[in-house]
Amino acid sequence: MSKRAYNFNAGPAALPLTVLERAQAEFVDFRESGMSIMEMSHRGAIYESVHNEAQERLLSLLGNPQGYKVLFIQGGASTQFAMIPMNFVSEGQVGSYVMTGSWAEKAFKEAKLVGGAHAAASSEDKKFLAIPELSSIKAADNAAYLHITSNETIEGTQYAEYPDSGSIPLIADMSSDILSRSFDVNQFGLIYAGAQKNLGPSGVTVVIVKEELIAKSPSNIPTILRYDTHLKNNSLYNTPPSFSVYMVNEVLKWIEEQGGLAGIEAKNRDKAALLYNHIDGSGGFYRGVAEAGSRSIMNVTFRMQSEELEKQFVKAAEQEGFVGLKGHRSVGGLRASIYNAVPHESIKALSDFMKHFQQTQG
Ligand SMILES: Cc1ncc(COP(=O)(O)O)c(C=O)c1O
Repeated sequence: MSKRAYNFNAGPAALPLTVLERAQAEFVDFRESGMSIMEMSHRGAIYESVHNEAQERLLSLLGNPQGYKVLFIQGGASTQFAMIPMNFVSEGQVGSYVMTGSWAEKAFKEAKLVGGAHAAASSEDKKFLAIPELSSIKAADNAAYLHITSNETIEGTQYAEYPDSGSIPLIADMSSDILSRSFDVNQFGLIYAGAQKNLGPSGVTVVIVKEELIAKSPSNIPTILRYDTHLKNNSLYNTPPSFSVYMVNEVLKWIEEQGGLAGIEAKNRDKAALLYNHIDGSGGFYRGVAEAGSRSIMNVTFRMQSEELEKQFVKAAEQEGFVGLKGHRSVGGLRASIYNAVPHESIKALSDFMKHFQQTQG
């Protein structure tokens, strides 16, 4: 096999090598069925057992919160941006959104189209480089929910703690940091995440939701976009993305092997500290973008003295096998996405490369 890349892609992103190898081993003949999992009916016993196992495993990793269900939906987190207001905002209500960056803005825009949207707080005045103070977050009186983006993938910011939304359901887009650290699911009414960063390949979006919130969706929205359709049919109303769900189950097994969320969190904090310490200790050659208290342990954004130098950095890094270090086209700069599956060795190698690059420029 050719050498694996040092993969810092923002999503789709690195997957654990052991998961890829397991999938490869059972790719053609799944559980002695004589078929790949992609070739069998989603109504059959084998697929259903994988599907149910993935849901149970996810809830178990989250401490088996009472009254919560796991749904597998297609259309990415972007479809959740629309489904959430469609299902929850009734006449005279709004969705309240904490505006933390590019993804929060996208979610907010969809709510505006569908029902009504209100900004519960914003860090736009800080160019979205910090998470607003929790005490400044105020949901509207007529809010159907309070929506947060737990980790802004593009700007590289992350909530250190979550706001208390009182009796208003708290909804979180956790696409870029789900299962990266321990947290209390009971604080949330609904959590959603596209799988392609911390959970598996693209193609499936995981929704963890308090069952009572979605027992009955408004009857005037299309069947496939109603949460109660997916709930009543155990996410098998239509053909699910079976291979993606299978991969999610394998990634969840791998997270268990890492010591669950506590084990993964310790590793993630170590990895992020290594990189941020390197940036902070570079005498200004590299500069962290996000404010210190809001730095993400998943997406490390940083800059150099000039765009020209950044270009040279990316080019030189690519030649050494580092992938995905260019910042998002909307903000520029550099970004290392260090999701769960990015091994410590990759970050060590990046840090060594950064040191070497600085020496050659200095
Ligand atoms: C925080 C966040 N929300 C939403 C999305 C959009 O996800 P999708 O492409 O699955 O619709 C992304 C994708 O990068 C993201 O990082």
